[in-house]
Amino acid sequence: MKPLIIANWKMNPANSKDAFDLASAVAKDVKSLDVDVVLCPPLIYIPEIQSLAYKLQTTNYKLQVGAQDCFWEQEGPYTGQVSPLMLKNLGCSYVILGHSERKRLGETAEMVAKKIQAALEVALIPVVCIGENIEKEMKIILNEIKDTDVSKIVFVYEPEGAISTEPGAQSLSPEQLEQALGVMRAMLLKKAGEEAVQKTAILYGGSVKAQNIQEFMEKGAQGALVGAASLGAQEFVGLVKNAVSM
Ligand code: PGA
Repeated sequence: MKPLIIANWKMNPANSKDAFDLASAVAKDVKSLDVDVVLCPPLIYIPEIQSLAYKLQTTNYKLQVGAQDCFWEQEGPYTGQVSPLMLKNLGCSYVILGHSERKRLGETAEMVAKKIQAALEVALIPVVCIGENIEKEMKIILNEIKDTDVSKIVFVYEPEGAISTEPGAQSLSPEQLEQALGVMRAMLLKKAGEEAVQKTAILYGGSVKAQNIQEFMEKGAQGALVGAASLGAQEFVGLVKNAVSM
């Protein structure tokens, strides 16, 4: 499996020029690398960054774009929501779901499960964040999805306390990650069987930087969900390069 590095820009940067410049700088430097890089900017910047990605595809490489959330219906009277279908129609390939910063605002695992199904309906790849309470969250989600859909999802183990912007953030040790990945893989195996587990990417998220990405990948993460370190082109490209040279 190729490494998969997903940039979660969260609510940054403050204007579209900076967003475009960051995306362009990243795109230029990762173009020759054998890696899947997905940029998840704030929704409002997606059209511009998607058109940059589209232009690049017509040359010889691909930068993919994702969103940071979506709703569970495709159209209708839902003020303020954005549907998976709309994201798909904009050219997005991925959508991050169930991030702990959204759970803190009231999103439940049941809501995340509905969003996953809605994303899969339009062939948008859900990037599903699983926190400290792995078993409880995975159980609710796996109960709601078909066995055959498991390998269409990217799972991320991302304990809230390891996110760099959390007060007193504690980076996870590679050993703790190995253990968590083992629990997740065992649950996926029980749900969907060995072949599906082989095809399912599990990433790690939480204070991942250029200096530590390799430690996490050595323990079995297929890549990373990156927050703070994705906001500077140089740091982010360094991280991507280190992931590729594994
Ligand atoms: P971080 O954020 O890399 O800044 O820890 C990761 C995330 O919240 O997805």
